[in-house]
Amino acid sequence: MSEFHVTRTLPEDAMAAALRADVLHGLTSDPKTLPPKWFYDARGSELFERITELPEYYPTRAELEILAGRATEIAAALPARTLVELGSGSSEKTRHLIDALPGLRTYVPVDVSDTALEQAGRTLVAERPKLNVQALIADFTTGLTLPRSPGPRLLAFLGGTIGNLLPGERAEFLAAMRALLSPGDALLLGTDLVKAEDVLVRAYDDAAGVTAAFNKNVLNVVNRELGADFDPDAFDHVALWDATNEWIEMRLRARTAQTVKVPALDLAVHFAAGEDLRTEVSAKFRKDRVGAELAATGLELERWWTDGEERFALSLSVVR
Ligand code: AVJ
Repeated sequence: MSEFHVTRTLPEDAMAAALRADVLHGLTSDPKTLPPKWFYDARGSELFERITELPEYYPTRAELEILAGRATEIAAALPARTLVELGSGSSEKTRHLIDALPGLRTYVPVDVSDTALEQAGRTLVAERPKLNVQALIADFTTGLTLPRSPGPRLLAFLGGTIGNLLPGERAEFLAAMRALLSPGDALLLGTDLVKAEDVLVRAYDDAAGVTAAFNKNVLNVVNRELGADFDPDAFDHVALWDATNEWIEMRLRARTAQTVKVPALDLAVHFAAGEDLRTEVSAKFRKDRVGAELAATGLELERWWTDGEERFALSLSVVR
């Protein structure tokens, strides 16, 4: 019979402390920033799901095309008995991989959102009676301990979420991932690719305004969790392409001069009219850079799969 366990490695109060630290640091920095991981409360996760269905937001569909078309190849390259998925969300795309891995015994979805994990886990276990699902509520950016499970292990980090990390954070993150792997294990990494600026900007500034609502939702999170008085309507959603760093930036631009109070931090933050708060970096990659960043942590880019339009890539690095 199948099993479904949820383990919380991230105490509720540690989450709260991390949010406070991030908000204090970010809102007192110049320029002001907030880390993108705080987008994903229940409403933010729902808005992100809607983003993935937008005509302008191609990454999810492009990655799904690769997973659907290449799952057998991926499975042959790494016949995993354990699949670990970081930032699993709804686990929707991963089903292709799960179906293609006949020897798969254990699936370990890892996410900060317990609601997403519960839902996805229950559905999966109902559908795959022989699969052992060990969900982990954890923040994979601050270290991760995996449950005991049979190798080889495939560690999947999909969706292009690695692009949300700044280059230094990426190096640290990849080293931490490398440390979780033993010989015969592998890392499957999803990266969005550099492409025409207008296509990129539209993907982060859709006509229906869903991404704008998603961006502003981080202000609601800070309001609810820290008692702040941000007025989301007092900010404009901005998406721009930074050609030097090859990343998309999302910002919230203050429409007027204003002061925001954050009582839980005993903080008052002044915004000048037109001042930006950076809420997300979403880096876009070229094959060379993916290979170089993997190599810097002792991993070799062994396989590289893209969708038909070369918008998105999956790379596989097997530990030898
Ligand atoms: C879920 C991190 C891959 O960076 O494209 C979507 C998040 N932000 N629209 C991305 C996001 C704005 C997304 N990731």
